[in-house]
This record gives sequence, structure tokens and C-alpha cells, in this order.
Amino acid sequence: MNDFIFQNPVKLIFGKESISKLPKELSAFGDRILVVYGGGSIKRNGLYDELMELLNKENKKVFELGGVEPNPRLSTAIKGAEMCKENNIDFILAVGGGSVLDCTKLIATAAKYDGDPWDFVSKKASPSDAIPFGTILTMAATGSEMNAGSVITNEETEEKIGWGSPFSFPKFSILDPTYTLSLPRDQTVYGIVDMMSHIFEQYFHNATNTPLLDELCEGALRAIMAAGEELVDDLQNYDLRETILLSGTWGLNGFLGMGNAGGDWGSHEIEHAISAVYDIPHAGGLAILFPNWMRHTMKLNPSRFARMATNVFGVDPEGKSVEVIAEEGINELRSFWSKIGAPETLGDFDIDESKIDVMVAKASANGPVGRFGKLSKEEVQSILEASL
Ligand code: NZQ
Ligand code: ZN
Repeated sequence: MNDFIFQNPVKLIFGKESISKLPKELSAFGDRILVVYGGGSIKRNGLYDELMELLNKENKKVFELGGVEPNPRLSTAIKGAEMCKENNIDFILAVGGGSVLDCTKLIATAAKYDGDPWDFVSKKASPSDAIPFGTILTMAATGSEMNAGSVITNEETEEKIGWGSPFSFPKFSILDPTYTLSLPRDQTVYGIVDMMSHIFEQYFHNATNTPLLDELCEGALRAIMAAGEELVDDLQNYDLRETILLSGTWGLNGFLGMGNAGGDWGSHEIEHAISAVYDIPHAGGLAILFPNWMRHTMKLNPSRFARMATNVFGVDPEGKSVEVIAEEGINELRSFWSKIGAPETLGDFDIDESKIDVMVAKASANGPVGRFGKLSKEEVQSILEASL
């Protein structure tokens, strides 16, 4: 394993009616609260009313920023940071999916900064303070509820970039599977694809002697696939929602990446370039790209892919070469994602070859893409072309 330092300060409050713990958590902070949410799902599923009633009962002074976009935009974060400065906000509550949480991370840090908030995303500057914030998560997918990461789209420059800082960890995250029951099938599928992708990104690494990490990743993938396959046809099933919700958190809270030298993350880099240009759902892009990334990088370490095939997808290795086992595993992943309804080609989002060079340039802006496979521009291009 590679040496590492691990710290995750997020308090996780998980379970049915866990929102009842909110007043106690908020009591540590001031009374002026900015509630950040998305396009209205929390109004439709009753969470907004429940939350407002609770905050009013606690005599909180509530400010609101709704309308955070999926693939959250810099302009929205700037608006939120200005609201915080103008209204002396003491605490921010992010209520929604990963996009709302990610936007809140930039709002919270930018509110304590006089420069351009994009400086943090572009790594020109680092936050040195933040307004404290907590989250109520409504979608199982990104793991943003228990990590410091945030992905922001600069709509003017068509860039979508991930960033993070020790100041962008939530103080607490409230996870009640009940709030995820209203997720439609497509978003549920996207969540499953995203959390599986996060685990693959960490599973494909070049560290040695990682038996615990490898087994944890494989076990998590099997558990997600077992629950996910049932859930997409039984969206109101609380127990399945519970499993998937916790899995999303585990997928990217750092535990599966201890000692793996960072994992790969090339597929995410390429996907962010696609979303930056076409504004498609993050996991829609991943579902298309990841099997093609695997086909392309398999040659670097076929036995790693063969291990995935047997331990995650149950491929029978008897009498087959390592390469054949590996290919069968990748095909199994493609079939599983297709079976639950994930997209297969860029054409499913009406994306053609016309802007491939733009996406290649964006994905490769910082040099070779990924760590397990350090992909050249030509390789990124060939993965995108295979995805058309
Ligand atoms: O905006 P509202 O009306 O709330 O609707 C959302 C949105 O349309 C809806 N939704 C969320 N919870 C719902 C619900 N609809 C009904 N019932 C509910 N309970 O779902 C749609 C998608 O929401 P969004 O927050 O965009 O999805 P997700 O959680 O997948 O977040 C995606 C964003 O996170 C970034 C992605 O790039 C993308 O911008 N990522 C963040 C990461 C991180 N912070 O660690 C890592 C990831 O790899 C990812 O890149
Ligand atoms: Zn992701």
C-alpha cells in the first residue's frame, strides 16, 4: 500500500426521521440560516414544508436560494455567496442531491473570500475559511455528503472542474432513505452508475498489497448491483433505498481509497469534459464511457480486470485466458448497466463527433488523463470515438 493520512470529520446522521436530530445539530451555530436547494423536488416530496416548519419552530431566520442546477453553475454559487455576505449568514443548509451540496461548498468558502470564487475551482487560490454548512441528502450518488469534493461548471468558459479543500467538508449530513423514495427511475439508475463508477475509479490503481481495499470494493460493488437491480423495478422499497443510500456515501467518503495512491479518475475527467460541453447528467456520461475506458486500458493489467470479472461479476474462469476472462467481465458490466436502463452511446444524448476535439482538449488540459492508465490525447479521443 502507499502511505497515507486519512481524516474525515463529517458526522453522519442516518435513518428514518433523522431530520428530528437537526435542531440539536443547529444549536451549535447562529440563527441566520441559508437553505440551498435545487429545482423543486424537495417542494414536491414534502421535505421543504417539513424543514421550514422545523426551522420556524426553532425561531431560525431563514433565507433561501432555490434553483441550483444539476451540474451546478458558477453564477449560482456567486449569487449564494453574495446572499451570505449581505445577510450575515451563520450557517448554510444544503438540501438536495450532489449538485446542491457541491454548489453549497463553493458558496460557503466563497462567502469568506473577496476574490473570484472560480479561483478555488481553478486552483488559483485556496480557501482559508468557510461558513459552516450541513446537508440533508435526497439522492444517493456522489458521496458529496461525506467528502470535501465539489464539481462546478463555469458556463461562460464551458469548463466543469472538481475541487476541494479542508474547509469544504459538511459539519453533518442527514440521510433519511425516505427522502430518496421520490427519485424517478432514471435518476435512481444514474445514482447506481455513479457510485459504482467511484468504486471502479478507486479499484483500478497501481498500488500493491491492497487485499482489504480490493475486497471492500468488490463486496460493495456486489451489494450495490444486488440491491440496484431490484430497486429499479421497486422504487418505493425502503430497504433497497437504504442500502443504496449508504452505498453512495461509502463509494466516495475516502474509506475505499486508503493507500491506493488516489485511484484512476480518468473516466471522470473525460465525463466532466462531456458534461461541460453538452450539460448531460454526470452518470449518463459515465455509463457510456467507463466500459470503453476498461476495454482501452485492459492491456495495461489484464489480471486486474480478470479479478474484477470473477469476484464482482461471477465470470467462470475455467479454461479461459486472462484476457478472455477480463473481456467477459467488462461485457458483464455493460450488460448490467444496460439492463437497468443506463445509456450506452453518446448518440443516446444526440452527441455526434463534431465536438470530440473540443472534449479531448478539455479532458487533457492538465496533461495525461488518469493514473492507472495515463492516457494521451489520442487515447482519450479513441475512447470518445468508441463511445459514439
Ligand atoms: O433539482 P431538483 O429539483 O432537486 O431535482 C434533482 C435533479 O433534477 C433530482 N432529485 C434529487 N433528489 C430528488 C430528485 N428528484 C426527486 N426526488 C428526489 N429525492 O435529481 C436530479 C439530479 O440531481 P443532482 O443533484 O444533479 O444529481 P447528483 O447527486 O447525481 O449530482 C450530480 C453532480 O455531482 C457531481 C457531478 O459532476 C454533477 O455535477 N459530482 C460530485 C462529486 C462529489 N462532490 O464528490 C463526485 C461525482 O463524481 C460527481 O462528479
Ligand atoms: Zn461521479
